Amino acid sequence: MTDYPVSMETHPQVQAFFDEATNTISYIVKDPTSTACAIIDSVMDIDYAAGRITFDHADELIRCIKDQGLTLEWIIETHVHADHLSAAPYIQQELGGKIGVGSKITVVQDTFGKVFNEGTEFQRDGSQFDALFGDGDTYNIGNLQAFAMSTPGHTPACMVHVIGNASFVGDTLFMPDGGSARADFPGGDAGVLYDSIQKVLSLPDQMRLFMCHDYGPNGRDIAWETTVAEEKAHNIHVGGGKTKEEFVKYRTERDAQLSMPKLIIPSLQVNMRAGEVPKDHDGNPMLKVPVNGL
Ligand SMILES: [Fe+2]
Repeated sequence: MTDYPVSMETHPQVQAFFDEATNTISYIVKDPTSTACAIIDSVMDIDYAAGRITFDHADELIRCIKDQGLTLEWIIETHVHADHLSAAPYIQQELGGKIGVGSKITVVQDTFGKVFNEGTEFQRDGSQFDALFGDGDTYNIGNLQAFAMSTPGHTPACMVHVIGNASFVGDTLFMPDGGSARADFPGGDAGVLYDSIQKVLSLPDQMRLFMCHDYGPNGRDIAWETTVAEEKAHNIHVGGGKTKEEFVKYRTERDAQLSMPKLIIPSLQVNMRAGEVPKDHDGNPMLKVPVNGL
C-alpha cells in the first residue's frame, strides 16, 4: 500500500453542517495555526419538482467563514455525489478557494457523459475543476498538510481526505451502525469498495472519521463522527473482521433492493461539472432526464 504521510499530532478544527434535505454533512476544516480553512462537500439546495435552485445551506457555510475571518483555500469534493448538488462554484465566487476532486473524475465524466448524451462541449478531462488529486497527493490548508487517498468502489473517483488526525471518508464507510456506501452505480464495485474500506481502517485507531452522510438508523439522533477503532470493532458491514466474500455478497444483495437516490439525475449532471448547472443552446441553465438511461 502507498505510504501515506499521516500526522496524528496535527488536530484541525472541524465544524459540521448537516443538510436535512439530503442527509449530507458539509464540513469547514480549519488550520489551528492560521486563518486558513477548507470546505468539504458543500450542498446546493434544489426543489427538483420546481426546477428551483437556492443556496441557504451554502450561505450558512459562507457566513460562518466570514464571521470567523477565515480564508478559504480549498473546496473539496470527496466524489461526484449522486444524492445532492455541490455548491462549489457559488462558494468559490463568494470566498475564492480551489475546487478539488479525485483525478478519476475523467472516468466518471466519460461514463455519465454517455448516459446524458453530452456533446463535445462537455470536457471529459476534469478541466472544470482547479485541482485533480491522485492517490497520496498532498496539499496544504495554511500550515496543515493534507493528503488524498484513493478509495474507489462507490464511484471510481472517490477519495478520502486525511487532514491531520481528521479523515473525511466521503461515501465509503457510514457510522458503525450505518455500514457502508452502496456500490451499484455505474463504475461502482463492491469488492473494490471493500479494499478501499480496508485502507481507511488501516489508518491509526484514534484517527477521527467524519462521515459524508448519516440517516439515523433505528431512530437514533444524526451523528457524523467516529474513529477507526470504532469502525473496526463495530461497523455492521465490515467490522469484526468480516471477509471480502461476506461483504460483497451482503452489499450486492442489499444494493439490488435500493431505489435510485431522489436527486441522482440533477446531481450527476451538475457535480460532474464541478457544481455548474449545464446550459442549453441558448445559454439557459437546463437539466435533462435520460429515459431508462440509469
Ligand atoms: Fe455518493
